Amino acid sequence: MEGWLVPLPQLFFLLLILLFQPAASTSCDWYHGSWVLDSSYPLYDPSSCPFIEREFSCLRNGRPDHLYTHYRWHPLGTTCNFSRFDGKRFLEKMRSKRIMFVGDSLSRNQWQSLTCILHSSVPDSKYNISRVGDVSTFNFTDYGVQVMLDRNVFLVDVALKRIGRVLILDSIVGGKLWKDIDVLIFNTWHWWNRRGSTQPWDYIQVGGKTYKDMDRMVAFQKALQTWGGWVDSNINPDKSKVFFQGISPSHYNGSLWGEPTAKSCIGQKEPIRGSTFPGGLPPAVAVLKDALTKIKKPVTLLDVTNLSLLRKDGHPSVYGLGGRIAMDCSHWCLAGVPDAWNEILYNLLLI
Ligand SMILES: *[C@@H]1O[C@H](CO)[C@@H](O)[C@H](O)[C@H]1NC(C)=O
Ligand SMILES: *[C@@H]1O[C@H](CO)[C@@H](O)[C@H](O)[C@H]1NC(C)=O
Ligand SMILES: *[C@@H]1O[C@H](CO)[C@@H](O)[C@H](O)[C@H]1NC(C)=O
Ligand SMILES: *[C@@H]1O[C@H](CO)[C@@H](O)[C@H](O)[C@H]1NC(C)=O
Ligand SMILES: *[C@@H]1O[C@H](CO)[C@@H](O)[C@H](O)[C@H]1NC(C)=O
Repeated sequence: MEGWLVPLPQLFFLLLILLFQPAASTSCDWYHGSWVLDSSYPLYDPSSCPFIEREFSCLRNGRPDHLYTHYRWHPLGTTCNFSRFDGKRFLEKMRSKRIMFVGDSLSRNQWQSLTCILHSSVPDSKYNISRVGDVSTFNFTDYGVQVMLDRNVFLVDVALKRIGRVLILDSIVGGKLWKDIDVLIFNTWHWWNRRGSTQPWDYIQVGGKTYKDMDRMVAFQKALQTWGGWVDSNINPDKSKVFFQGISPSHYNGSLWGEPTAKSCIGQKEPIRGSTFPGGLPPAVAVLKDALTKIKKPVTLLDVTNLSLLRKDGHPSVYGLGGRIAMDCSHWCLAGVPDAWNEILYNLLLI
């Protein structure tokens, strides 16, 4: 019988291996897949979500085609058990917890999607919406679940100084609002390339030196490094889960999807078939992924870029805000693509 016994050190090692074996769900590649038509989608009827902002309310703004709302994201991996978003289950599981999106209008897009998904799953449940400073809170009061949005387009600071508005790449005082939040989903990118009247700063400061401007990709990379440092010094992984939304792509150039005459996303009614966007990835993705590898605390990338690149049909185009920025191929209609981002978030949080 003695021959059956595993010597103690080996047994210990075996136990370690078993303990750290990733669960089947975590080895799933959620991001390699395709969009499939599914008439049981969207997850909610956008007309039953009274608080969708006009910017994302494509149907209410007169968009004539509806097919784009009926696509479901389908990960291809055989180990994937990708569940449909169950709003009640989410609220039960997240009872008394705070979830916060931090970032620009793409964060607001995903925040609104999540509040619509949850509200439509418990339409008779009480809620209130409040705003203090830059933080909007959607409170599911029956569950004590707060779904929050902190508008902060660079994550790092913009300070008003004697010389003007200064974007400080190595300062992140905004972080005081993020401490002890249970689930954080960060995002920044779209504002880094702004110039002229829509650029909300006059100077860039880093390492105590002030510049009139610099390579925007370098600035983005330095800010991500500052944010990563904040995560490493402030996040308690037992209390808070940290996600990064990823680079949400725009569709202004049809050459990138084999339709050189298309100057924007208007009139696009279907996604790109298959799993690959012919035009490749926006360069910011590599900068982001590299920055994430340098963070020691656990941060999960909600890698929305590839799956969203396929959705040239998902933007408001002229059925968003209209007016001055009439052609919107950056944000997403709701119901729509951000619902799938949230469905991935749901699977990552609950499995
Ligand atoms: C995303 O797209 C890039 C470039 O097309 C490709 O190299 C990569 O494998 C894709 N990733 C997934 C998860 O589909
Ligand atoms: C997949 O998900 C369904 C529904 O949640 C569950 O019943 C089933 O056991 C899961 N299968 C695996 C292999 O995890
Ligand atoms: C939201 O409702 C809860 C419960 O009724 C209440 O305690 C809280 O003060 C309300 N908040 C706002 C901003 O109205
Ligand atoms: C959210 O609702 C709870 C009651 O469930 C209340 O205690 C809390 O103050 C509310 N928060 C906000 C920001 O309204
Ligand atoms: C659109 O993409 C093509 C192919 O990459 C490129 O040659 C062209 O300059 C782009 N057009 C604009 C307006 O950016």
